[in-house]
Parts: sequence; structure tokens; C-alpha cells
Amino acid sequence: MRILSGIQPTGSIHIGNYLGAIKQWIDFQEKNECIFFIADLHSLTIPYKPEELQKNIFEAAIAHLAVGIDPQKSVFFVQSHIKEHTELCWLLNTVCPVGELQRMTQYKEKAKQFKGNVNTGLLVYPVLQAADILLYKTQGVPVGKDQVQHIELARTIARKFNQKFGKVFPEPKALLPKLGAKIMALNNPKQKMSKSLGPQSYVSLFEDSKEIKKKVMSAVTDTGKVIKYDPKRKPGVSNLLTIYSLFSNKSIKELEKKFKDKGYAQLKKSLTQLLIDSLDPFRRKRKELLTREVFVKETLKLSAKRAQPIASSTISETRAKMGLV
Ligand code: ADP
Ligand code: TRP
Repeated sequence: MRILSGIQPTGSIHIGNYLGAIKQWIDFQEKNECIFFIADLHSLTIPYKPEELQKNIFEAAIAHLAVGIDPQKSVFFVQSHIKEHTELCWLLNTVCPVGELQRMTQYKEKAKQFKGNVNTGLLVYPVLQAADILLYKTQGVPVGKDQVQHIELARTIARKFNQKFGKVFPEPKALLPKLGAKIMALNNPKQKMSKSLGPQSYVSLFEDSKEIKKKVMSAVTDTGKVIKYDPKRKPGVSNLLTIYSLFSNKSIKELEKKFKDKGYAQLKKSLTQLLIDSLDPFRRKRKELLTREVFVKETLKLSAKRAQPIASSTISETRAKMGLV
């Protein structure tokens, strides 16, 4: 199966991104044809500083290599290095109904959050995402729950295009993890853990031990005592159990048993240690890669060369079908 996914270079990558998306990417690359990229063009739709963008792209590349994206197994590049993404976005704009874009949850949230900068790119964002996916005739897209609506729209766009011009694109499917598709914020377990909620909501993949301890120990829970997985009534404890389960490979049931007569403080202490130990290899690998700038940049360039022929071929086919010869 051909698998593709992307992530924006918009700051530190957190355990929500890892458990919801990147961990799957690493598993998929063993047995599938995988394409991953840094969605720098998408990140231009919210306020940013041009002088910081290059550094953020480089940081995001290192982060993915550090956690296990293997450029020998997967294609891993920077979106803006392949111009066909923007060309296909334009072509697909002409089949995507504007009403579909206006009802996207992420658009509405971001338009509210960045009131002074509701640019057209923010509205068209999901069409560029559909272009990313369809350009490589992708079948599966591993993402967290918040991105499902965008993948559904990519399916709609593919269907509309195929109906109008003849079949070019397969309809892609979102691939969600069974557990962890929506990790909640540590300081507010009713909301999704997210960069935009601020650093208190998440543990970054390269966080130092002291910060991990502070954030986990002060994670919001309920006033009860029983350690039980019940996302509706106990969102905080259930979130901690989910994170624990995914990093330890122990089932939620096993964990409920393990912590049966223990309090929340014990669960948090144990989770703190688990996170420190699990994230330590990532931190070390990142440190090493930070000293190998040339290698990282060459890796991205070589990967883009592998993606380019697929992109060129799909664009030629699309242009021909649309009468642009
Ligand atoms: P953020 O909301 O922190 O800015 P992104 O939008 O950059 O995160 O998301 C990158 C990837 O991580 C996407 O596939 C998204 O679905 C996934 N993801 C983001 N937050 C979470 C979360 N809290 N739980 C699970 N997956 C998540
Ligand atoms: N919109 C995605 C996010 O915010 C990032 C993204 C861009 C993406 N293009 C993609 C994800 C294509 C999957 C497939 O997380």
C-alpha cells in the first residue's frame, strides 16, 4: 500500500503528534511504500517569522529522523521542494466547492484564533492537503483524529475529479491508531493536546526530565481516587492511562490492575519515569543529528529526487485529462 503523511514545521513536536501519527508512520515503513514530508507551505497560513522558518524546517526534519523515520525505507522531503504540490492544488481548486472549505472545523478554529489574518491560504489549506495526497496516488494516510475531515475532503475531491475528467486518483483512506488518535491536553483533558494550547498542555518529544516531571505531576485529574479508564467521567486519568499504555505496550486492563490500590500520585510518578526512559533515546539521537547538518540536508534533497518522478508523472496525466496540453 502507498502511504503518505505530513506535519507542519510549527514548533516542538509533542507526544500527541507522536502517538497519534508519527508512531504509525514508523510502523508502516517496514512493509509499505511510505512518503512523509514537512508541510512548510501549509505553515505559511498562520503568522510566522520568515527568518525562523528555515530553522523550524531543519528542526522538524531532525525530530523525525531522531524518532525513527528511516530515509532508507521511506521517502522524506520538504513539501515546497516539489513544485507540483502547488500546481495540483490550483487544478484541484477548480473542482472543490467553496462551501466544503468554509465548513472545515480546522478552518473555523484557526479563523477565530487568528482573527486579524484570515487569509485565502487558510481557507484553501485542505485543497493543498488533498493535492499532497493525490499527487502520489496515495491509498492510506496515517493521521490523528483531528485530520479525518481533511482526508474525507480529499476523497470527495478525488471522486469529483474522476467523475468529471476520467479516473486519475484513488480515493485515500485515513488510517487512525486504535488507541491514541486523540491524546488530550495535560492541563485540560477535555481538549486535544496541541501546540496551539501552549507548552503546559504537552510534553515535547525532547523535553528534559525536570519539565516532564513538572508537567505530568501537575496534570489535571478528577477529585476521585479510583484509577479506571473512563474517558467521559475521568478524562484526565484515562488520558494518562492511554499515554502509559502506548509507551509501555501494556494494555489498559493490565494498567488498571497494576495501579488498582494506588493513588493518582503513584500513577503520575510511574508515568513520569516511563516517559523519561522512553524519550531519552530520542533526545540523544537528536543531539547527534544537530551536529550533522550537511547529512540531514542531503538526505532531504535525495529524497525529493525520489519523489519528483511520481509527482511529475501525475501532473502530466492530470493536465492532459483537463485539456492542458
Ligand atoms: P498541533 O495540533 O499540535 O499543531 P498538528 O496539527 O501539527 O498538531 O498535527 C500533526 C499530526 O499529529 C496530525 O496527524 C495530527 O492529527 C496529529 N495530532 C495532533 N495532535 C494530536 C493529539 N492530541 N492526539 C493525537 N494525534 C494528534
Ligand atoms: N494538515 C496536517 C496537520 O496539520 C499536515 C498535512 C499537510 C498533512 N499535508 C498533509 C497530513 C497530507 C496528511 C497528508 O497535521
